[in-house]
Amino acid sequence: MKAQKRKKTGEKLRASGSQAPILLDAKKEQAEQSLSHLRNQQIKRLADAKDNLMKKQSQLEHLKSQSFEFNHITEKTGEILRCQDLTLAFNLSISINFVMNASEKIHIQGENGIGKSTLLKTIQGLIKPHDGKMYCNVQTAYLDQNLSFLASEISATEYLKTINANLTEQQIRTSLGNMKIRRDKALIPLKNLSGGERLKVALLALKFQHVELLLLDEPENHLDIESRELLAHAIKHFNGSVLLVSHDDSFVDACEITNSYHLK
Ligand SMILES: Nc1ncnc2c1ncn2[C@@H]1O[C@H](COP(=O)(O)OP(=O)(O)OP(=O)(O)O)[C@@H](O)[C@H]1O
Ligand SMILES: [Mg+2]
Repeated sequence: MKAQKRKKTGEKLRASGSQAPILLDAKKEQAEQSLSHLRNQQIKRLADAKDNLMKKQSQLEHLKSQSFEFNHITEKTGEILRCQDLTLAFNLSISINFVMNASEKIHIQGENGIGKSTLLKTIQGLIKPHDGKMYCNVQTAYLDQNLSFLASEISATEYLKTINANLTEQQIRTSLGNMKIRRDKALIPLKNLSGGERLKVALLALKFQHVELLLLDEPENHLDIESRELLAHAIKHFNGSVLLVSHDDSFVDACEITNSYHLK
């Protein structure tokens, strides 16, 4: 705009004959140079914006391919779990009393060795309680920090087939592929996958089983940052109930778990 205005002023001056033609030619050249400079700046800005857009799109693709959601809608309402005067095997000194409602998420706290893992295993039915009452009316799944149930010789594809026989090989491979477990990774023994990859298989297994209550025992341990974020995102958006044991407050915050029960 500025250059055009200058050019017009130059033309007027030339018409009026009040300036030497050599001066007017210099002014014209100057105006043309400014115009071309502006045009180059605009081209560069456009190229930068395009570059930026492509970078953002590839970041979004990356995030999308890493995200996981349970797509689980619970139909349960009201009480799903009750522990009444419950004493655990191995540690008889504490009596546990709490009630959990559908879709509630609770952080289980307590010092090392108090019985947090034993409580989760008791709820899952892996260990018998010593005394007291425990009532649970939903399907539960217990995940220990090493995902040791996945330290097996079978592949992710074979494992997920055992979880839900109605799934086709193609559905399983697509689900695994969406979690970046592709090609040979889907076919090698589970024990050879990394902690993060095993976590993804475990999350898919939970999704295919329609679990209502997740019992998570320090699940963030041994995971890389990306997998921790994936897990926190999944827990945050899980529509069922969660009992989470974790010593990492930032992870608990990321899962947006606000209720807690302290074993003591
Ligand atoms: N299989 C077992 N046999 C005998 N004692 C056990 C067994 N498993 C756990 N214990 C004992 O039971 C108590 C509770 O253990 P638990 O693993 O539940 O504690 P925790 O709160 O999960 O501890 P941490 O924070 O270290 O994970 C501990 O004193 C532990 O030594
Ligand atoms: Mg423990």
